[in-house]
Amino acid sequence: MSSNASAHPDVMPATNPRAIQGAGAEPSLHDPAGAPGPAALQAESVSKHYQVRPAGWLARPQTLHALRPVSLRLDPGRTLAVVGESGSGKTTLARLLTLIEQPASGRIALAGQWTDDPSVPRKALQARVQMVFQNPFASLNPRKTVAAILEEPLQIQGRLGAVQRRDRVMDLLDRVGLSPTHAARYPHMFSGGQRQRIAIARALMLEPSVVVADEPVSALDVSVQAQILNLFMDLQGQLGTAWVFISHNLAVVEQLAHDVLVLLMGRPVEMAPAARLFAAPAHPYTQALLQASPQLQTGGQVVPVAVLRGEPPSALSPPAGCPFHTRCPEARTVCAESVPDLKDVGETRVACHAR
Ligand SMILES: Nc1ncnc2c1ncn2[C@@H]1O[C@H](COP(=O)(O)OP(=O)(O)OP(=O)(O)O)[C@@H](O)[C@H]1O
Ligand code: SF4
Ligand SMILES: [Mg+2]
Repeated sequence: MSSNASAHPDVMPATNPRAIQGAGAEPSLHDPAGAPGPAALQAESVSKHYQVRPAGWLARPQTLHALRPVSLRLDPGRTLAVVGESGSGKTTLARLLTLIEQPASGRIALAGQWTDDPSVPRKALQARVQMVFQNPFASLNPRKTVAAILEEPLQIQGRLGAVQRRDRVMDLLDRVGLSPTHAARYPHMFSGGQRQRIAIARALMLEPSVVVADEPVSALDVSVQAQILNLFMDLQGQLGTAWVFISHNLAVVEQLAHDVLVLLMGRPVEMAPAARLFAAPAHPYTQALLQASPQLQTGGQVVPVAVLRGEPPSALSPPAGCPFHTRCPEARTVCAESVPDLKDVGETRVACHAR
């Protein structure tokens, strides 16, 4: 059992095999033993930038690179965790994967169908990926009953008749641990944990291939977090949904994820099976994140000391070379000169000149 299991006593470790390997020229999360069917989710070099105008009268618009090209593959029934400090691009990636925003480059496939295929209607693709947001208080319409909130995605997609829609509402309420009597109530009549259960039920109404959950438990009371995390794992076991799970809490990630992607200032810097990453984090930034995680000891091993020193650089004027070089205890001359490419080191893909 992992050393931090006591923090989440009723969270069971995920049982799926954990394996990632780089594939092809692009940095990529890939399960070599993967399912025979299409991946639940694939991203091919997706990136995003914004034009922003810094404060000041005469300031000229600048380009902020929120996400540099990222490629990944996620098979059905697996959970990919995305971690990184604030501003590292996690939500930006979530918004691209859920088709809420268009990438500046690259493309995405859901259950084998690519977003740039003109023969696939956008609405059909959108139904295959759903999002669970951080704040269940803000994400549910206060003027609608739970039944209306849950039925809405089916109505928008023009699926099922009224009776079947109602049956599905009842089925999902049951699956997320709520009762049929809750269907007629309004969101304000529920606790935070119950509201997040409603949000999860809504995300599953269309039987998506992938659910992207952006910090889904961080707004909840600690005592409720473990129940919701257990629910994620139960539902994955029942439905085979793939999850992208964004979290600051590495103890949670260790319990839940099969694979982990680490972002640093919009760049993927480490990709590994979760067991591998927590046992032997390769990138100095990953090591520092683990070191900074108060509840975590990696399997009793002492992680090499690499404290996150200093402030992260400005996203508008990132340093040349490795974006971690101003804070890295292992930095060397080349680190300030060139950005390291992702390369395979055993099971891990890592972008570091020292590896
Ligand atoms: N709509 C936008 N316009 C301009 N800049 C943006 C926009 N959205 C995000 N950014 C910038 O992109 C970078 C990545 O932001 P993002 O929200 O993806 O980070 P994050 O990893 O989710 O952070 P957090 O952990 O704080 O939620 C940040 O520098 C952010 O300020
Ligand atoms: S490339 Fe250099 S600065 Fe960046 S993490 Fe590796 S050793 Fe540190
Ligand atoms: Mg975010």
